[in-house]
Amino acid sequence: MRGPLRLVIDTDTASDDAVALLLAVRTPGVRIEAVTTVAGNVPLPRASRNALVTLEFASAGNVPVHPGCERPLLRPLETAVHVHGADGMGGAPLPEPTGTPAREHAVDALLRLARDRGAELTLVALGPLTNIAAALIRDRQLLDRFRHVYCMAGAADACGNISATAEFNVWADPEAAAIVCDAAACETVTWIGWDASRHDAVMTPDRQRRLCDLDTPLARFAHRVNRSVDHWATEVTGLPGYDLPDPLAMAVALNPSLVRRAETAHVRVATGDETRGQILVDRRRTAAPANLTLVRRVDSDGFEQMLLDACA
Ligand code: RIB
Ligand code: CA
Repeated sequence: MRGPLRLVIDTDTASDDAVALLLAVRTPGVRIEAVTTVAGNVPLPRASRNALVTLEFASAGNVPVHPGCERPLLRPLETAVHVHGADGMGGAPLPEPTGTPAREHAVDALLRLARDRGAELTLVALGPLTNIAAALIRDRQLLDRFRHVYCMAGAADACGNISATAEFNVWADPEAAAIVCDAAACETVTWIGWDASRHDAVMTPDRQRRLCDLDTPLARFAHRVNRSVDHWATEVTGLPGYDLPDPLAMAVALNPSLVRRAETAHVRVATGDETRGQILVDRRRTAAPANLTLVRRVDSDGFEQMLLDACA
């Protein structure tokens, strides 16, 4: 009998991250061992606060939230409050968290957990990879110590959301993403990109109605916190509703059988001005050995069912 799936979740907690946390809390057989927060969608204090309030709202129990890096490795922090709202949660009326962040820094927590318990832990990264990269600088074997590493990162088709060709998490800290790519092996590191989300995790009006028809506090929470993203999706990225990239990445981590198409390739990250954050996927026969598994398509109906089950 296999034990629970034990997760460490690194997040820049805004609206879709919150739904991903909710999915992890509410999926049977899953235990969140720790959450680490990173600046990205919102500044670090807000990311930590949103993580605490989401975990409490979902009755997660005693999950430590370790604050991490408050800015990218080299660049100034550029948030996505224009996408997620100033609070990152679509302005939803949420209580103040009762808990407080852990004293241990996220990077120290990641290094300790990987060293002491990595073989039983799955790392799921939902924001810029700053904490992971900072940990890799101190322990180059970090990624290999985990059972598996899933990242919501990149756009394998170079169709971007934050720029014409870049996905936000990689764009926000491209040097951190490059460090992760440099240390990764495709057997242990899987990226679920915005291309998969754009195709298989869009909350169309029908899906939004099915979610709201559940009429539960969690369903109302999941829908309400995405109010700002819904506006961005329909007005800027031209989708028929808000998409859920982090919950899609989380769903793949919880249930890899949802993957419908994936590829392995050697991936590098562009750090120049024009191409900042674009992932360069080398599919040539002469390419360097594959360092990432890229999930391209996911069972969209299966994903929706996981979300509905979690919010029921
Ligand atoms: O590009 C989508 C990613 O950027 C998601 O993780 C979202 O939360 C933002 O961090
Ligand atoms: Ca995120």
